[in-house]
Amino acid sequence: MTLAAIADVGRDRVRGGYSRHLFEPADLELREWFVERAIRIGLDVETDRNGNLWAWWGTPGPNAVVTGSHLDSVPGGGAFDGPLGVVSALDVVARLKSAGVVPSRPVAVLVFAEEEGSRFGVACLGSRLMTGAIDVHSARALTDAAGVTLAEAASAAGVDPAHLGRDDEALARIGVFVELHVEQGRGLVDLGAPVALASSILAHGRWRITVTGEGNHAGATPMARRRDPVVAAARAIVAVHDAALDSPGSRATVGRLSVVPGGTNVIASSVTAWLDARAATDALTRGLVDEIRRRVDDAVADSGCSVAVAAESWSDLVEFDPDLAAGFSGTLGGVPLLASGAGHDAGVLAAHVPSAMLFVRNPTGVSHSPEEFAEQGDCDAGVDALESLLRSLL
Ligand code: GLV
Ligand code: MN
Ligand code: MN
Repeated sequence: MTLAAIADVGRDRVRGGYSRHLFEPADLELREWFVERAIRIGLDVETDRNGNLWAWWGTPGPNAVVTGSHLDSVPGGGAFDGPLGVVSALDVVARLKSAGVVPSRPVAVLVFAEEEGSRFGVACLGSRLMTGAIDVHSARALTDAAGVTLAEAASAAGVDPAHLGRDDEALARIGVFVELHVEQGRGLVDLGAPVALASSILAHGRWRITVTGEGNHAGATPMARRRDPVVAAARAIVAVHDAALDSPGSRATVGRLSVVPGGTNVIASSVTAWLDARAATDALTRGLVDEIRRRVDDAVADSGCSVAVAAESWSDLVEFDPDLAAGFSGTLGGVPLLASGAGHDAGVLAAHVPSAMLFVRNPTGVSHSPEEFAEQGDCDAGVDALESLLRSLL
C-alpha cells in the first residue's frame, strides 16, 4: 500500500519503468515524500553530511537498530529495487509504534543516496561516502551525463559539498543494519519460499573502456580509409562477453554506451563503453578484468583505433556476518540463506557494522527492468520478517 503512494513518481515514458536519479526532480520528490511520511508516523528526520536521510524513533544512536534501503533507480528500472526496503522499514516502525512497543535502543529508517550510481557512475555512493570507501575529492568531481558535478548537484539540493565524506559520527550510531530488498534473481522461486537472508555479494566493479578513432564524413570516407571506433568497440564488447563466458560463474556486462559525437551521417571519433564485471571472489574478478583488458586490446588491434580501460569503482566480495544471519534465520523459523549477484549499501556497511539483508521473492526473477515484481503476499511476509527481526533486537 505504501509503495502505491509513490507509484507515479519518476515514471520514464521513453524507457518504461522508473528513472529516479540522485537530486533530480523525481528523487527530490521521493525524498520529500519520505520526510513527510516519516514525520507523520512520529519520526525525527535529518539529512546527514552525505545526503543520506535518517528518520529516528528515539534519540539518535549509538547502538541504534537501523533499517532501510534506497529510493533512486537505474534508468528505466522497476518499482521495487530500493523503495521496497524503505517502505517496509517505515511500515514496520509504524506497526511497532502503534502496537505500543517501547524500544530499548534507538531505531532509524535510513535512505541511502545514489545506490545505483545511475547519475554519477559510482554505485552505493551514499554509503561509500559515509564509510570513507571513496576518496571525497574524486567524489566531489564526479560528473553526470550533462557535466554537472556531484558537488554542484549536492549544493543545489541543499547538501553542502564541503561536508561530504567519511562520517564516523553517523556510522558510530549504527548498532546493526538490516536492509530488506526485492530478490534480483530466481533463488526464492526455486526454493518455493517468500523470504531469505543474504549470505554474500559477488565481488564487482566498474570500468570505463574508451575507444578512440577518427571522426569523419559517412559518405565521403571510403571504407578502407576509416578508423571507426564504433566498429572497434563492437568487437571489444563481444570480447568482453566471451571472456566472461570462458570464466564460469563470472559476469561481464556492457549496458551503457556513448558514441561521440553521435550523428547518423558521422563516423564517430570515440566510443565509451561502461563495463560491469563480477565474480565469486576478488581474485577471480580481478583475473576476469585482466583477461578482458587483453582481449579488448586484441579486438581493436587492427582497427586503427586506440583503446584505454580505466577503473571506476570496486567492491570486495561481501560475506555477511554468518552468526548474525544464522541467529536471524532462527528468529524467522529457519529461512534460507541466498547469495546475491547484486550490490547493496548493506554490503558496504558490512565491513564496518553488523549487517544483514532480507530478500523478498521476485516471481519474474528479473530486476533492473520494469518486469521486476513482488506479490503483495510476499511483500507482507517481508514486512512480517523485518518486524520480527526488529522486535528481537529491541
Ligand atoms: C545494484 O543494484 C548493482 O548491483 O548494480
Ligand atoms: Mn539495483
Ligand atoms: Mn537496490
